[in-house]
Amino acid sequence: MKDIYCLAIETSCDETSMSIIKNGTEEIETVILTQIDIHKKFGGVVPEIASRSHIESITIVLDELLEKSHMKISDIDIIGVTYGPGLIGSLLIGLQCAKTISLITGKPLIPVHHIAGHIYANNLEQRLSFPLIALVVSGGHTELVYMDNDYSFKRIGGTLDDAIGEAYDKVAKILGLEYPGGPKVDKLASQGKDTYNLPYPLDDDTYNFSFSGIKSAVVNLVHNEKQRGNNINAEDMCTTFQNRVISVITKKTMKAVTEFKVNNLVIAGGVAANRGLREKLEELCKEKSINFSVPRIKYCTDNAAMIGSAAYYAYKKGIIADLKLNAKATDNLYKY
Ligand code: KG4
Ligand code: ZN
Repeated sequence: MKDIYCLAIETSCDETSMSIIKNGTEEIETVILTQIDIHKKFGGVVPEIASRSHIESITIVLDELLEKSHMKISDIDIIGVTYGPGLIGSLLIGLQCAKTISLITGKPLIPVHHIAGHIYANNLEQRLSFPLIALVVSGGHTELVYMDNDYSFKRIGGTLDDAIGEAYDKVAKILGLEYPGGPKVDKLASQGKDTYNLPYPLDDDTYNFSFSGIKSAVVNLVHNEKQRGNNINAEDMCTTFQNRVISVITKKTMKAVTEFKVNNLVIAGGVAANRGLREKLEELCKEKSINFSVPRIKYCTDNAAMIGSAAYYAYKKGIIADLKLNAKATDNLYKY
């Protein structure tokens, strides 16, 4: 069978990334230009600045990718692009680039849902085995997904309010840690003790999550202590927060693995980089002899390699867009 080389483009938030992926599994080359330093001083991503930065970076990233991979645009078979969900202005830059390349080369344009990309980051580590449960935890999403085959997604639960990454970033901000705070909270969590009185977030029998309550609990606790003139022990606060959220997330994830009778669990998204979460799930999966897959850290946060992997399987399923494809700030993955 002929090899399929996918040029993948990801610009849904604050990373301008392009990648070339062979047959959905083999990374030829990836370039990621992060804007973290630009947004840091604002304490979060500023959408207008993000889209302007993508405009400045996108051709530079493409040139670098082709140079590093020793490939030409004419060597590419399909073009995969994140069309949503994400920041609309940011998505539009990557999408316009993908459409232009598709128009010039006549090669198929493959629309990729950002969450499908995160899940397929695992396919770059080892080929996905089905059926599986995917736990998607990022700055914009917290979802449990069941898949019985490639590019077939069934949502079984998700957050009712904030995404887990959002909660991490907010907790970091109130503790005076720099954006993006998730990795910093994770690091401090490994150095503290579980001493604070924080609630277990939506600790019920459903597959849904809620993080706005625990986020507010941290904010209130910090304010109250400050008003009393007391110092907050950041390490202990991070340990307590991380223990509470990981306890509920891992409990619900393992319940899904059991109830859906799967032998495979994959985790994905920026928060899959969390050491506490990885270690706990690894331990629980070992106990139950479940195959556990987690991407390398560089594939957890936003990158185009994961989009290139997902695009290959979308293409195999006949999911091809025309030049009318538009960016979507929100969209349902589960129509596929
Ligand atoms: O997947 P991602 O790069 O972007 C979205 O699609 O949202 O995820 C970014 C999120 C941020 O909220 C960041 O703080 C969080 O992932 N994050 C972490 C860790 N590394 C990144 N959260 C907790 N622990 C980490 N180690
Ligand atoms: Zn993401």
